[in-house]
Amino acid sequence: MSVKITVGVTGGIAAYKAVELVRALQTAGLDPHVVMTRAAQQFVTPLTFAAITGHRVITTLWANDDSESNLNSAIDHIDEAQTTHALIVAPATADILAKFAHGLAEDFLSTLYLATKAPVLVAPAMNVNMWTHPATQANLEVLRTRGVHIIEPDNGYLACGMVGSGRLADTPIIVEAVLQALTPTQDLAAETILITAGGTREPLDPVRFLGNRSSGKMGYALATAALARGARVLLVSASTSLNPPPNCEFLPVTTAAEMHTAVLKNLTRATVVIGAAAVADFRPATVSAEKLRRTGPLTLTLEPTPDILAEAAIHRAPDTLIIAFAAETDSAAALENGRAKLLRKGANAIVINDVSRPGLGFDADHNAATLLTPAHQVDLAPMTKLTMANEILKQITLLRATSPLTPR
Ligand code: C5P
Repeated sequence: MSVKITVGVTGGIAAYKAVELVRALQTAGLDPHVVMTRAAQQFVTPLTFAAITGHRVITTLWANDDSESNLNSAIDHIDEAQTTHALIVAPATADILAKFAHGLAEDFLSTLYLATKAPVLVAPAMNVNMWTHPATQANLEVLRTRGVHIIEPDNGYLACGMVGSGRLADTPIIVEAVLQALTPTQDLAAETILITAGGTREPLDPVRFLGNRSSGKMGYALATAALARGARVLLVSASTSLNPPPNCEFLPVTTAAEMHTAVLKNLTRATVVIGAAAVADFRPATVSAEKLRRTGPLTLTLEPTPDILAEAAIHRAPDTLIIAFAAETDSAAALENGRAKLLRKGANAIVINDVSRPGLGFDADHNAATLLTPAHQVDLAPMTKLTMANEILKQITLLRATSPLTPR
């Protein structure tokens, strides 16, 4: 079951960006519900959010139809306050910050803020003079001391034509802050996790390559989840269309050979290596300097690429954990093949994906897998890739318990 969070949208021009935020939160595996102030509805309609979330959008404390729904509406804020896992207000206007700071409860959102025990985050967006005004800054200080997480606005061009601080923080930064608030445990704070992600591309000529269907979503979900749990993350990424999570060390590569170099170069820094990338096992033995012409049948000679993870396993420090992935297409033999691969690569665990199931694995937001260690088998039923990332990281903390980290 996905985690319910509440997105409060208030009346600023950046309200339209809350649409993108709601989508990104869904991609991160969360179940956003939206609450809008009256002013927010001047910028975006509740229908937009209802259509995206599939949930009723709450716009008022008071229903204006029959008495039964009136009663329901009057206690909605208590229900919402108790069932949500986090409240994120984005954009947060100077007005809502003032209401929160002073405990005013005259609309649904400010009432919800007082009633909830869930973590609260605010992402302010406003004109630079309103942002720097002592009243706004004093209200923020009050909220900060009460444990509200403030996601600082960016500098830049503002809708009012001025330049300065007051632009809503970028969506990935807000998503990461929400995930961090939901995962307060910093159980990976001592780890430096090197993650490979995406699909490598092996050139054939200046315009063609051999590639694969990997989207990079699993590796990026692992990076996001590991950062939220306090790890330092080195993301060695082959081709994807994803934005790297903020705060990771991003090392883009194209080919298996480049990935090999990047992984081995950074191996001494890594306390965990996770091979989520789909690495080409073969590459063209020669790369044509000119575009290959259509002159009849073409036979390609392929040569094997280095097995990056197997080499990392050989050269690692004794306490560095290695986690492999195995994409299997033969359901019947997947476990057996996976177990053989675990041993062959010298890994501490392997995550076996049956990629033949529709809607799971390649390019999907969901995944199902079996995690094998030499001693255990953990079935990971269909779940979002972010949830699976957290399950895999939990298994890493269990492996760490039997292989303590020595200071580097
Ligand atoms: O042998 P196979 O390609 O199925 O192994 C998959 C696992 O090995 C994945 O974790 C993948 O990232 C890694 N791998 C690698 N170098 C290769 C091929 C795969 O590190 N050349």
